[in-house]
Amino acid sequence: MHFQWYPGHMAKAKRMMQEDIKLIDVVIELVDARIPYSSKNPDIDVLAKNKSRVILMNKSDMADQRYNAAWKEYFEAKGYFVALVNSKSGTGVKQVQDIVNKACEAKIERDKKKGILNRPVRAMIVGIPNVGKSTFINSFVGKASTKTGNKPGVTKGKQWIRLSKFTELLDTPGILWPRFEDQNVGLKLALIGSINDSIIDSLDLALELILVLSKYYPEVLANRYGIETVLSVDNLQGALKLLEKIAVKRSCLIKGGEPDIRRAAVFVIDDFRTIKLGNITLEFPDDRKNKDKDKDKDKDKDKDKDKDKDKDKDKDKDKDKDKDKDKDKDKDKDKDKDKDKDKDKDKDKDKDKDKDKDKDKDKDKDKDKLVTDGKDI
Ligand code: G4P
Repeated sequence: MHFQWYPGHMAKAKRMMQEDIKLIDVVIELVDARIPYSSKNPDIDVLAKNKSRVILMNKSDMADQRYNAAWKEYFEAKGYFVALVNSKSGTGVKQVQDIVNKACEAKIERDKKKGILNRPVRAMIVGIPNVGKSTFINSFVGKASTKTGNKPGVTKGKQWIRLSKFTELLDTPGILWPRFEDQNVGLKLALIGSINDSIIDSLDLALELILVLSKYYPEVLANRYGIETVLSVDNLQGALKLLEKIAVKRSCLIKGGEPDIRRAAVFVIDDFRTIKLGNITLEFPDDRKNKDKDKDKDKDKDKDKDKDKDKDKDKDKDKDKDKDKDKDKDKDKDKDKDKDKDKDKDKDKDKDKDKDKDKDKDKDKDKDKLVTDGKDI
């Protein structure tokens, strides 16, 4: 199954966020606690480089408490300040101010050293659509806040909400596009309702959900649908068989008594979204850690490849140098040959000179003969 989903307004949102991020000190990113990895946008790490980072695991009331704690640890180990929140009821929202303060401690200290005192930290909320940004802002800001209005020059056209003496929040949240590194991530985003249902086949969604449930929550299938849980369901064929059983149990049948798997699929997805299946998390920190390790290994391999390439380049350079040396030697040899030729020429000249001398001698001898010949006469 393949799908593409990148609406044009997402590109515009990214450009706007690039501008907004320059104005702020701390980025508060909301993720969905049921899929904390897939609902977290990787681009924000690049956009918000050098900013303090807070992750709020929202909708924690819908996710599995055991994995909430494990995911919190996972992100904290990566250097984020993390809180579990339920923006709808307000649970956990109060602690966010403390966490923001902690995240900005280093920045406040830096300001103090520069002599800047009491400048409020500026925060921005970001997250993918439907993750609960508006609900969180309403809950976080409450009635105590006041809008500070435009600040000409510095924050042209931006509205800030004063949360306290120490914190200001950018009024409009940054909308992030979900990550689409693989189809699996897309399926999970669709399951929590972040992607329009019309884009993905509900049968594919239900099968993905059943695969996760049979592996991590086998009792849920048994309790809710009264079907024997087959722990070995680790492929789509197995998941399809389970869906057929669910269809029969729920009397989702087509003419002739055949199971109506499409109707059953919608049924199961709806049960998940309305928490009738209980608190379910769809991705798990241990799996992620293993994938992180694989990624690190791949990076190491890439580094090794780069090193090998560098070595090859060095070798090529050495070869080129050797060739240059050989050329220089050849040139020297040519020069020597030229010198030898010059010497030979000199020798030839000397020989010519000797010959000339011999000729002169012969001439002298002839003269002597004439003199003696004259005397004789
Ligand atoms: P967005 O601004 O990021 O797009 O999301 P928004 O606040 O509009 O929230 C999307 C939906 O998620 C809303 O439900 C909202 O009530 C719900 N929601 C937000 N935070 C939480 C939370 O922590 N727990 C739970 N359980 N739900 C949360 P809706 O169905 O669109 O509207 P409604 O139910 O509020 O009428």
